[in-house]
Amino acid sequence: MANEHKKEEDIQQHLAQLTSEQAGDSIILETRNLKKYYPIRRGFNPFQRNGQQYVRAVDDVSIKVPKGKTVAILGESGCGKTTLAKAIALLSPPTSGEIIFNGQSLTFGKKKKKVDYKKLYREMQMVFQDPDSSLDPTLKVKDSIAEPCKRLLTLGKGEDIETFVMKSLKAVGLSAMHAERIPAHLSGGQKQRVAIARAIAPQPKIVILDEPTSALDASVQAQILNLLLDLQKNFNLTYLIITHNISVAEYLSDILIVMYAGNVVEYGPSDSVISKPRHPYTITLISAAPIPNPWKRNLLNTEIRGEVPSAINPPSGCKFHPRCTYAGKRCSEEAPELKEISPGHFVSCHFAEKTA
Ligand SMILES: Nc1ncnc2c1ncn2[C@@H]1O[C@H](COP(=O)(O)OP(=O)(O)O)[C@@H](O)[C@H]1O
Ligand code: SF4
Ligand SMILES: [Mg+2]
Repeated sequence: MANEHKKEEDIQQHLAQLTSEQAGDSIILETRNLKKYYPIRRGFNPFQRNGQQYVRAVDDVSIKVPKGKTVAILGESGCGKTTLAKAIALLSPPTSGEIIFNGQSLTFGKKKKKVDYKKLYREMQMVFQDPDSSLDPTLKVKDSIAEPCKRLLTLGKGEDIETFVMKSLKAVGLSAMHAERIPAHLSGGQKQRVAIARAIAPQPKIVILDEPTSALDASVQAQILNLLLDLQKNFNLTYLIITHNISVAEYLSDILIVMYAGNVVEYGPSDSVISKPRHPYTITLISAAPIPNPWKRNLLNTEIRGEVPSAINPPSGCKFHPRCTYAGKRCSEEAPELKEISPGHFVSCHFAEKTA
């Protein structure tokens, strides 16, 4: 068992190494064997003092995010995307594993280090799905954007917060007029622009975007995606974007990571994963009947036979085996390794060669 675990760790590390080396990019963010388990609270039961159970929301995830690129994490609801994002941003500290950001370990080896949160959040910002919950409804737009700047920035000579606020407002396509409004007086798209302005105002290096457009109408969604592309170019940003929408991932990302039940099942250049998916789960997602509006090519509309696996007692072997049309005997007994099937493209399936 210990051997098996070690082997899996080696593979994950090998994967991370290969992907970055092949890309030839410098890596700004990396996770190594990251896990986030939530303990399940139960009522007191004298016969069950041992045997604590856990929701294995993120279960050994190793990824690398190259500087200036966009990495998308795609997966069904409940597969652990938000937990991964929050663990990376230390909003929900990981159970184990390591996060390396800007060449510095944020976690959790034997030599535990104190994290400089001010520095971390100046360089790493998040945008959430719902601006209504991320923006204070009582604050004017300008004050909402100023708040992280006041908290995180050390101003240089001649710099003031207002300059940062107005610069980021302008960058997201809003004006001085919007600066005086409260969120209730903005449209959904404008609110998400404010949330993005708030994230970029402290001039971060990376922005983690958790379903940033899924609460928006299709036309507004496209505008926000284009805005994200412009901002990336203008401010040299790196994005880690979480989505359950294949079109969003395809439009924005350079590298696509497909997650299933807390694990990475497929990983590689986005065009390669989308045009030639090799994991049976990704194949099912991508070959789902096309629908007229591509922005609604949404995993929520995709039906995969069988039930979403339990995050507490996941299926043995390959976690996808109860739902997989390709499954054989080996699949319920042995967890597949992530294997490179074309340059930089990795798949975790015993029969990946048969899915080509
Ligand atoms: N605070 C929490 N406590 C316990 N379980 C949680 C908590 N947050 C998320 N989970 C569980 O972790 C799993 C992954 O959730 P989440 O990361 O939100 O998935 P996604 O963002 O992909 O929809 C789910 O089974 C969810 O119920
Ligand atoms: S390992 Fe088996 S069950 Fe898992 S995806 Fe591959 S064929 Fe399907
Ligand atoms: Mg989520």
